[in-house]
Amino acid sequence: MKTLLSAGAAALATTSLVHPAAAEDITVGLLLPYSGVYAALGQDIEAGFRLGLEQFGGETDATFEIVAEDTEVKPPVGLAKARKLVLQDKVDVIAGIVSSGVLGAVSDFVDSAKVPLIVANAGNDEATGANCSPYIVRMSFSNGQVNRPMGKWMREQGINTVFTMAPDYAAGQQMIAGFVEGFQSAGGEIVGQEFTPFQKTQDFGPYLAKAKASGADAVYVFYAGGEAISFVKQYDSFGLKSGLPLYGAGFLTSPLYVEAEGPAAEGVIAALHYVPTIDNEANAAFVATFEAKTGRTPSEYAAHGYDAAHALVLATAAGATDRESIAAALPKVSFSGPRGATAIDPATNNIVQPIYVYETVAGTDGLTQKVLAELPAEADPANGCDLAAASN
Ligand code: BEZ
Repeated sequence: MKTLLSAGAAALATTSLVHPAAAEDITVGLLLPYSGVYAALGQDIEAGFRLGLEQFGGETDATFEIVAEDTEVKPPVGLAKARKLVLQDKVDVIAGIVSSGVLGAVSDFVDSAKVPLIVANAGNDEATGANCSPYIVRMSFSNGQVNRPMGKWMREQGINTVFTMAPDYAAGQQMIAGFVEGFQSAGGEIVGQEFTPFQKTQDFGPYLAKAKASGADAVYVFYAGGEAISFVKQYDSFGLKSGLPLYGAGFLTSPLYVEAEGPAAEGVIAALHYVPTIDNEANAAFVATFEAKTGRTPSEYAAHGYDAAHALVLATAAGATDRESIAAALPKVSFSGPRGATAIDPATNNIVQPIYVYETVAGTDGLTQKVLAELPAEADPANGCDLAAASN
């Protein structure tokens, strides 16, 4: 399915008007879920990406054409669509991918096809670790990066025992492994773990009963998209929230769907690399323009898309015109963005960034994100990846 979306056509027209004498046309393959449990995430990433091209397009002579494809959150479909974008549409660069499972399926293909991939969500640790590639740059987060520091922080708050839950696929396993590593190395004890069938679990009741019976001080989870909405609502309606505090990776209570969770989300404490309440100038500008354009607050997903577009614009402004030169230029970009100073670790091609601990609280205009702590940026362990040495 070739989808040159109409909203995209509008964005393209805007970019072309700004640059009537464009030097290069860059074709971007947007590889996102537009169906399945992460469909809303894909749409928010695309909204952020298009806004980023509009916002920063003035910094390059290049123009951008977008071809969008739906991964359906299915690894084999994601791989087939990546092959189509590269072999049929002949894109210069791919951006997107929400699910760690899809990223795992696509990584080797983009590496061998030598096509640059800007990861705009999926946190699969291996893509910037054991299975890293000079063609893969991540502008979002890694699964370990978000959760490891939260384990240590929760232990410092006096939490001794935790029960964990997550969907049973790469992201769930890696996010929980990161949390467990941080929590146990700070002296905490894991008293139970459940991995729920991904995209299939409607009723979390049996798992919540086990969490309650575990006697843990707290529950720590990763859920995102439609699964996060169901989980947070059921946790509250099961009567657990008051006696067994709920913590998690911050996708759990994303601004994208926190209003759908409603009061059940109030008091949940979570860790994330971006919340719209981060206090800096670039974030204020991003929030204002995103709200003016879409009528909603930007989420972490929109921020990934926006920063991915910013990075691509800067790579082309530095002279990149084709697959090889874009791949070489992307890891070198740095800018001041909604997450503050933004740069890529040359050893792994993963973004380096602080992690924010935030609580969902009632604000004047609905639910909002109150920042409780900023945990310092740490580069991920290289886990066998050494891109810096490879490029020397
Ligand atoms: C992942 O599969 O990597 C993922 C999906 C949704 C939110 C965060 C991470």
